[in-house]
Amino acid sequence: MLLFAAICAASHVTVSADEACRDGTCASNLNDLRKVLTVSEDVADYVVRMRRELHLQPELMWTETKTSALVKRELTAFGVSFEEVSSPGVVATIGSGSAPVVALRADLDALPVTEESDIPAERRSQVPGKMHACGHDGHTAMLLGAAKVLKSVEGSLRGTVRLVFQPAEEGGAGARRMLEDGLRAMKPPIESSFALHNWPYPETPSGTVGTRSGTIMAGSGAFEIYLRGAGGHAAVPHKNVDVVVCGGAVVMAMQTIVSRLTDPLDSALVTVTVFDAGGDADNVMADTARLMGQFHAVNKRTLEWIHGAIVKEATGTAKAHGCEAAVTFTPVLPDGNVREEYPPTVNDVKAAALASSVATGMFGAEAVLDVAPVMPAEDFSFFAEEWPSTMMWLGAYNVTAGATWPLHSGRYVLDESVLYRGVAMHVGYATEFIAKGFDER
Ligand SMILES: *[C@@H]1O[C@H](CO)[C@@H](O)[C@H](O)[C@H]1NC(C)=O
Repeated sequence: MLLFAAICAASHVTVSADEACRDGTCASNLNDLRKVLTVSEDVADYVVRMRRELHLQPELMWTETKTSALVKRELTAFGVSFEEVSSPGVVATIGSGSAPVVALRADLDALPVTEESDIPAERRSQVPGKMHACGHDGHTAMLLGAAKVLKSVEGSLRGTVRLVFQPAEEGGAGARRMLEDGLRAMKPPIESSFALHNWPYPETPSGTVGTRSGTIMAGSGAFEIYLRGAGGHAAVPHKNVDVVVCGGAVVMAMQTIVSRLTDPLDSALVTVTVFDAGGDADNVMADTARLMGQFHAVNKRTLEWIHGAIVKEATGTAKAHGCEAAVTFTPVLPDGNVREEYPPTVNDVKAAALASSVATGMFGAEAVLDVAPVMPAEDFSFFAEEWPSTMMWLGAYNVTAGATWPLHSGRYVLDESVLYRGVAMHVGYATEFIAKGFDER
């Protein structure tokens, strides 16, 4: 293998990689990034087919059993060994079994969103009220494509790839659970991890990829505030304690956490998304109210600090209005799952440089962007805290494909034409990390 690798590496200096490899000499290894791109293009149709099958049957966090079954079916068909970690989570293993070990990650879960996209009806979600509106179906399909490619060159891998199919990204911290349930303890240990997120925004058009070193996504938490006043007749406010006015004041007071108490250079947000109070009567003042919302911050310490600020603003403001406030940071979602907190996603300098250099080698420098951080959160952050890792955007904004709607929208459309590029990034990151680590960059 090593001999062939040397021949091919040398021969593409004088002849193109494709010419050098036309006789099949190079088919057994992927030490040329252009070759990675070519073999990834070869699985493009397969990946689109998998993505479409997944799109029909979206499943919410911790219930991704059909999705997991599809993953296991395909891995079995390729002859790839796998184990269940945090079922329905799956970890597949390809390579020599020895170090170095690199992890590639895809997420399995969908969202409680009703699909209203413009794609043909027979290709839309067939499950009312559930949709792959964040493109995790595409992420899973790309990782299956990467498994197919990597398996075909397994004999040449002088290291190991763990393909992590993770449940419950949308608030359930499936990534953290997988670390606790065995991923962290795997031997030989994982040394780096890589993940892609499709990015259907104008700054990352289809054909581009982008990442950055340092924080790429904020951390996030959720809160729920119960307020108790004293209800009664709408016309005698002086005998009651109006919990709606109290709640309104709490909402306004929370606006000062970011605007007045946080360093303007330190990005953070506090958003109240739910305000429940009262029944159906216009003449009855309610006893209780409930507020819910989220807070995000790019700085982990700021994220921690916001907890105390919310408690202080809510309880102090409620008291000034004669109400009582109780705050929790682990609200239970309608499906019974607790909303988990995510730290910011901080890309490692060397891992981000590796991803960018792999992308440049395959797509050309003009297609590789240095992107700005964003306020949404990701539980890949737990992997990035564990190992030097990088999250990368797979540009997927494409007017022709109708892929102009944001993530989490019922009208969201994934531009399937970019999926093979994602396969290539997964394979390229893994093979380059195994071949050279973070050196030589
Ligand atoms: C945009 O979408 C069209 C239609 O699906 C496709 O033909 C084209 O290749 C896409 N553009 C890029 C750059 O992927």
